[in-house]
Amino acid sequence: MALQIFLTTGHYLCSMSKEIVVSGIRSTGHLHLGNYFGAIQNYVKMQDAYECYFFVADYHSLTTHPDPKDLKANVFHVLAENIASGLDPNKVALYAQSDIPEIPELYLMLNMMAYVGELEKVPTFKDKVRQQPDNVNAGLLTYPVLMTADILIQKAVKVPVGKDQEQHLEMARNFAQRFNSRYGDFFPEPQVFRFNNDAVKIMSLDGNGKMSKSENVNATIYLSDDDDIIKKKIMKAKTDAGPTEPNAVMPDYIQNLFLLMSLCSKPETVDIYRNNYNNCTIRYGDMKKQLAEDMAAFVHPIREHAWELQKDEALMRKILKEGAEKARIGASKTMAGARKLIGINYY
Ligand code: TYM
Repeated sequence: MALQIFLTTGHYLCSMSKEIVVSGIRSTGHLHLGNYFGAIQNYVKMQDAYECYFFVADYHSLTTHPDPKDLKANVFHVLAENIASGLDPNKVALYAQSDIPEIPELYLMLNMMAYVGELEKVPTFKDKVRQQPDNVNAGLLTYPVLMTADILIQKAVKVPVGKDQEQHLEMARNFAQRFNSRYGDFFPEPQVFRFNNDAVKIMSLDGNGKMSKSENVNATIYLSDDDDIIKKKIMKAKTDAGPTEPNAVMPDYIQNLFLLMSLCSKPETVDIYRNNYNNCTIRYGDMKKQLAEDMAAFVHPIREHAWELQKDEALMRKILKEGAEKARIGASKTMAGARKLIGINYY
């Protein structure tokens, strides 16, 4: 988008043909370390060099029918935790998905090009069918189509997401191609983006799958957890009797502890424990104590800043409103173009 000037809180944001970036996080609770290291850390690094649109995916969270009060609180948690993690609302558009009416409009159009058979085969849909057999709603089925609309509405080319979202991005590219081949070249094909192509996947501390907002809260470290809770959770993390031979392959739950340590502790600290592992002298209790301390120190300033921000509801609302205003500039242009191509332009 060439030479665009956005009016923000007394600041002007000037973007000269920067590449467009979009990403979102569902409002299903406080953010956790997986969200931070898998996504937000990349958002923060991208905010100067790219034209960034980061949003709270509140429509996506409706698939699990949240209580309205919780939904609202969660939108503010996600917003505050994004900012406390380093996102600057003067540099990026930070908004709620539901504040952009062009998104559901594009979603509707794309739904006409998405086939039930292909949507039923998406692994995340199949997981949900297994997890919540009593609530297999159409929103779950068309979840990747709504994600595609979130991305294409800004004509984004880069999408910073964790590994778990890669399949959805592949579908977004398919839907963009399908639209283009039917109506003419209009949407770019969005690509997953990570610095150094490094996909960080944080596992749950009990070793069962990825760390997630709603599953096993005791094995998930949230950016809202206080120091004591963090220490308790880390001390309970799954370990075993330790390696029995030098340089043994690490089980994935031990690898996860080392990964967390490499993200929060000093490199020298990680080296010490890695050497201890390799020569079979590691004491997991000591390692967890050190990790807990370093993790608590890491989360502490983010938690405190997020709480401060959330106390100022007027500020939170202002940020969302201004973010939506910025996001709607591109969104309305995209929809005008898409309507015209489809033939829905009567006046
Ligand atoms: P969500 O809310 O589940 O997660 C938000 C971001 O955090 C990443 N993530 C992880 N990364 C590493 N390890 C983990 N344990 C972990 N858990 C989550 C996710 O990969 C994601 O980047 N469908 C999306 C939200 C969305 C979206 C979009 C994203 C809606 N529309 C458009 C990009 C573009 C989701 O549920 O993310």
